[in-house]
Amino acid sequence: MPKSTRYKPKSKRQTVESVRTLIPREQIQRRIAEMAREIRRDFPLEPLHLVGVLKGSIFFLTDLAREISGDVSLDFIAVSSYGDRTHTSGEVKLTRDLDASIEGRTVIVVEDILDTGMTLQYLLRVFEQRKPRRIRVAVLLDKPERRIAKVRADYVGFKIPNEFVVGYGLDYAERYRNLADVGVLTLGARVKKT
Ligand code: IMP
Ligand code: MG
Repeated sequence: MPKSTRYKPKSKRQTVESVRTLIPREQIQRRIAEMAREIRRDFPLEPLHLVGVLKGSIFFLTDLAREISGDVSLDFIAVSSYGDRTHTSGEVKLTRDLDASIEGRTVIVVEDILDTGMTLQYLLRVFEQRKPRRIRVAVLLDKPERRIAKVRADYVGFKIPNEFVVGYGLDYAERYRNLADVGVLTLGARVKKT
C-alpha cells in the first residue's frame, strides 16, 4: 500500500506559532487579589453570586472566588459566538444555561476578555430579563480598541492592546488555556477566534 499523503503533519502548523509573555502569573495573581478586595468593598454585606462564562473564565473565576471574603456562590454559563477575529457577526448562542435562578441576587459576571463586547451585551440582556438585584461585570482583560457593542466592565484586571492573547484560560483553537501567564500568540497565518 502506498504511503498515505492524506494527512498533513500537525507539527507543520505548530512550528509557526509562538507565545510571548505579556502578563506574568505573579502580576495576574496580585491584580486578582486587588479586584477581589474592590468587589467586596463595593458590596460589604451581600452574598455575591459569581457567574463564570465558560470556558475562558475558569481560572480567573476560581482564583477570584477564593480571594473574595464572605458569602460567595458560583454558577456557569456557556456561549458560542460566530464570526472570526476581524469579522464579528454579532451572533451569540447560549450553549449551557445557569443551574440556578439569579432573581434577587447580586450577580458578578466573570469573563476572560472583553473584546468587541458582543458576548457580554448578549449575556447582560439575558440576565437582566431574569430580575437580579444587581449585575456587575468583572473581566480579566479588556481590549478597548476592539469594542463594537456599547458595554463596559465594572472591574478590569488589565487593559491590553489589540493583540490576540492566550493562556490563563484563553485559548487558540482550544489550546494554551493551561498556561499560567497571559501571552501574545504569533502565527504565520490569520488568528481565528474560537
Ligand atoms: P467579544 O464578544 O468580541 O467581546 O469576545 C469575547 C470572547 O472572544 C472572549 O470570551 C474570548 O473567548 C474570545 N476572545 C476575544 N479576544 C480574544 C483573544 O485575544 N484571545 C482569545 N480569545 C479571545
Ligand atoms: Mg474562546
